[in-house]
Amino acid sequence: MKIGIDKLGFYAPHLYLDMTKLADSRNVDPDKFTIGIGQDKMAVPPMTQDAVTLAANAALEIVDETDKEAIDFVIFGTETGVDSSKSAAVYVHELLGLNPYARAIEVKQACYGATAGIQMAKGHIMMNPDSKVLVLGSDIARYGLNTSGEATQGAGAVALLISADPHIMALEDQSVYFTSDIMDFWRPVYSDKAFADGKLSNEQYIAFFSNVWEQYKAKTGMELNDFAAMCYHLPYTKMGYKALKTILDDGTDDVQERLLANYKQSTEYNRDVGNIYTGSLYLSLLSLLEQTDDLKAGDRIGMYSYGSGAVGEFFTGLLQPGYQEHLYVEQHHRLFSSRTEITVPEYETIFEETLPTDGSTVELDIDRDPADICLTGMADDKRQYVNKLK
Ligand code: CAA
Repeated sequence: MKIGIDKLGFYAPHLYLDMTKLADSRNVDPDKFTIGIGQDKMAVPPMTQDAVTLAANAALEIVDETDKEAIDFVIFGTETGVDSSKSAAVYVHELLGLNPYARAIEVKQACYGATAGIQMAKGHIMMNPDSKVLVLGSDIARYGLNTSGEATQGAGAVALLISADPHIMALEDQSVYFTSDIMDFWRPVYSDKAFADGKLSNEQYIAFFSNVWEQYKAKTGMELNDFAAMCYHLPYTKMGYKALKTILDDGTDDVQERLLANYKQSTEYNRDVGNIYTGSLYLSLLSLLEQTDDLKAGDRIGMYSYGSGAVGEFFTGLLQPGYQEHLYVEQHHRLFSSRTEITVPEYETIFEETLPTDGSTVELDIDRDPADICLTGMADDKRQYVNKLK
């Protein structure tokens, strides 16, 4: 039985910051951000968007009435959870009006959470071929104003519908995963900003990639020439390129050219959104599929997932016939073109805004947020959400 990605949705908040303007205000050469790091724009979430609403908005575009009945498992990968106890998946389940006979859980391992969710979903579909699993990867990447991580922030979510006989990509069975306890990036429970050892995190990202890629080749007999494209977890777009460069020499000239061209396509969306942690690899896949017209059914895509701390996994999928008809290209182009640019001072103000932590009531102005699903405020220590379409 084929199991894999049947639908792939995406959402980013409607505000963004131009990286050249951020560079100017930080007295940095803009080329460092746009070329050295490889980011053009950074999505900025208003107070009315959190990990729950971003994910729910991403899912809204892909889930139809039939899916709502068939989904019996919601897996929410995030490292920006809104509650230490209740899973973000339960909120999304309610906001979307899904079948009540469903499991709903949150999965955490830095940027690896959604990949763990997909692999779990695959096992679930194997046991229950008629069901569908909604896997969400949703995050807000925050390092702080004037930090070296600032240029690698972002916000957004992906929603993946995993099913049997998928329309977009069938996941292959062979994969290699690796865990090792390292402190390259973490966020203690008392902090709303991540801590990163930038140099170590870059080194470990590459080291984990080399490790799982070499193991994968040894286990499967596959080689670089068997791949039409490689997608990477993209904390910033230069990072995946650094990893790809380490293996490019293994391919023929044609293959090298194809992989480099497809790598570029796989980074276009991420360049304009920034790091979305758990969803980042799947945003890269989406960017590839929606920007490239020389891929075809049967093409093998390699996927490198990396969650600091750290867990890495290399797995693969095969594109399905007619996959192009199951993408939401127009909606995503509209999403990007309708965003509003904000100034650096506006971004800084939004960045410093926080919700009350003393149980007091706050009502947020959702009229300025075009998203269908918003956070409307806090009351009695409870987040209040609305689906404007209901
Ligand atoms: N023109 C062109 N390029 C320039 C330049 C200029 N004027 N000035 C600098 N550069 C280049 C540098 O040469 C460098 O390129 P290389 O990496 O290819 O050598 C690049 O710009 C970045 O410069 P620095 O290394 O000096 O940048 P930095 O130290 O200020 O910070 C960072 C970079 C470490 C990525 C930092 O933003 C950071 O800590 N980010 C958060 C951690 C992170 O994203 N780590 C990635 C791996 S971990 C992971 O993947 C999990 C996750 O999602 C967090």
